Amino acid sequence: MLEHFTKEVITYCENHTNRSNDVLDRIEASTREHSNQINMLSGAYQGSLLRMLSRLVEPRRVLEVGTFTGYSAVCLAEGMTEDGKVISLEKDHNLKDLIEKHLSWTSLGKKIEVRYGDAKELLPQLEDVFDLVFIDAAKREYGLYYEESIKRLRSGGLMIIDNVLWRGKVVDAEPDKKTQSIQKFNEMVAADDRVEPFLMPIRDGVYLVQKK
Ligand SMILES: C[S@@+](CC[C@H](N)C(=O)[O-])C[C@H]1O[C@@H](n2cnc3c(N)ncnc32)[C@H](O)[C@@H]1O
Repeated sequence: MLEHFTKEVITYCENHTNRSNDVLDRIEASTREHSNQINMLSGAYQGSLLRMLSRLVEPRRVLEVGTFTGYSAVCLAEGMTEDGKVISLEKDHNLKDLIEKHLSWTSLGKKIEVRYGDAKELLPQLEDVFDLVFIDAAKREYGLYYEESIKRLRSGGLMIIDNVLWRGKVVDAEPDKKTQSIQKFNEMVAADDRVEPFLMPIRDGVYLVQKK
């Protein structure tokens, strides 16, 4: 029973996790100033999880689908090896200047390559093998991102997929089309023999998927 997961308890968890981070706090403030879609940004709590997972995996190659303003890319880069690199895919070319500005605020920025275009076209062209993947773009395309990414994820590697609870709508009795596509995706992951799945009820739902 999860009735004890009230808003206050969630705030308590955030207060006992989040720490100030100059670069990430600056990126968040700048995103707030330049975009009206601040809700798309991972933010401090989920960002702490991404950073910790990256430090645990110590990836050499990281793939991100959905850069937005670079916040999560910086989090994912944190645990990389010296020669590590993040390849992050973003279809909105209008974000280029803002992303470049944000990445210039940290030495990790040099290790983050943003490729602009539609992930549906860019993913099949990737030749690297990845240790860590973060999927956070168009929800209806998750199945496609997943299939293209899992092929490129090394055995033992970790995939993180955001928004899989879709504000709790995945348990709606009469789900809308977008929710249905997320339900279908979650069912596919849960039944996928190639991976060990772990769905976490944090923020908008985060699926951790380890490739066997
Ligand atoms: C939720 S935001 C990503 C947030 C970012 N990962 C973070 O945590 O700060 C989703 C991003 O995916 C991008 N996007 C949506 N569909 C895409 C596609 N087909 N290919 C590449 N990027 C896409 C959007 O333009 C948007 O910037």
